[in-house]
Amino acid sequence: DPNAPISVDPFRTVAKEMKFLTSNIRQLVGSGHPTLDTVAKYYTQSEGKYVRPMLVLLMSRATALTPKLERGIGESGWNVDRPITDKSILTDDNPSAPEYGELNAISQEPVLNKVDGDSDILPSQRRLAEITELIHTASLLHDDVIDHSISRRSAPSANVEFGNKMAVLAGDFLLGRASVALARLRDPEVTELLATVIANLVEGEFMQLKNTARDEKNPVWTEDTVTYYLQKTYLKSASLISKSCRAAAILGQSTPEVVEAAYLYGKNLGLAFQLVDDMLDYTISGEELGKPAGADLELGLATAPLLFAWKDNQSLGKLVGRKFSGEGDVAKAREIVSKSTGLEQTRALAQEYIDKAIEAISAFPESDAKNGLIEMCTKVLKRRN
Ligand code: FPP
Ligand code: MG
Ligand code: MG
Repeated sequence: DPNAPISVDPFRTVAKEMKFLTSNIRQLVGSGHPTLDTVAKYYTQSEGKYVRPMLVLLMSRATALTPKLERGIGESGWNVDRPITDKSILTDDNPSAPEYGELNAISQEPVLNKVDGDSDILPSQRRLAEITELIHTASLLHDDVIDHSISRRSAPSANVEFGNKMAVLAGDFLLGRASVALARLRDPEVTELLATVIANLVEGEFMQLKNTARDEKNPVWTEDTVTYYLQKTYLKSASLISKSCRAAAILGQSTPEVVEAAYLYGKNLGLAFQLVDDMLDYTISGEELGKPAGADLELGLATAPLLFAWKDNQSLGKLVGRKFSGEGDVAKAREIVSKSTGLEQTRALAQEYIDKAIEAISAFPESDAKNGLIEMCTKVLKRRN
């Protein structure tokens, strides 16, 4: 029955590969400096949802069955295991040098390959999955400093535990190690994609901090308000997901059509993911989220539910203009949003993007991995944390 609901646990489809993820990531961010080592590994203690690595692995497996470029599995696909020949990187007298040695050891005898010898997921694609999580975790370390957040993954956030300086530096360190791992894939296009993601994360965060699209003091709702929000959302959240899905297809030597389909899937899923995130900030308790709830208004941020409410309640403009800093602004805004259709409209828009994501990969041959990608879409809409 083609209309039967798909029920594939996406995690089980790539469970073998996921099993090594945390330990591989911990190895990638190891440092000879004990404190840096601790801070860098801090967010790997409580396992995250691993949405991004899971998507990369599922996309890798799903595209393994699609048309390939003439040259087939090329050099880049396996170069993850190429040992470093420039010994100077390994022997410089910095505290993390021994760990670089360890990193090199991974690349010579990859833990990754212990998964199995004949997997349809390439070692480079598994490493890409780890790189996406490193970049994501780096952005969370920085984000929690910017947002003055006190908790993450149901534990004190790194900035609370170690202070802002160490949290920022640990984020930078993760980006450095992600760059090393990326360079070792020896694929310039993939390197360019993931480097662009890092720039996009900063651009998205800047757009969120400083809204240039309107008269700041007394903004008026226009269609541009939503356009700006969606562009910000792409940069902040969908860029990493879309470009890493694209990179997974590229590493698998997929044809341009397949690469584009992978990208569109990730872009639409990523936009839906953040819309739901912005909705949960209004609807779910902090306890369930594992991080502070209702934080966006407190931070002065107007996200989708409020922007939709604003369209029908011009009075919100004044509050947006002063970033909800007036006495009672946050409560007032919350009440207007709850009485509006803002949350419904946000969910409906997320659903539209989810439909587009599923449509993007409709031409992929049927497989558990493809069903896993579809199931990830359903999960994004149903998620509560
Ligand atoms: C979480 O958003 C944060 C992001 C998706 C990206 C943040 C990006 C930066 C801080 C730019 C600099 C980072 C790097 C790595 C270059 P949120 O605050 O809405 O979500 P939350 O509720 O999980 O905190
Ligand atoms: Mg935050
Ligand atoms: Mg933030």
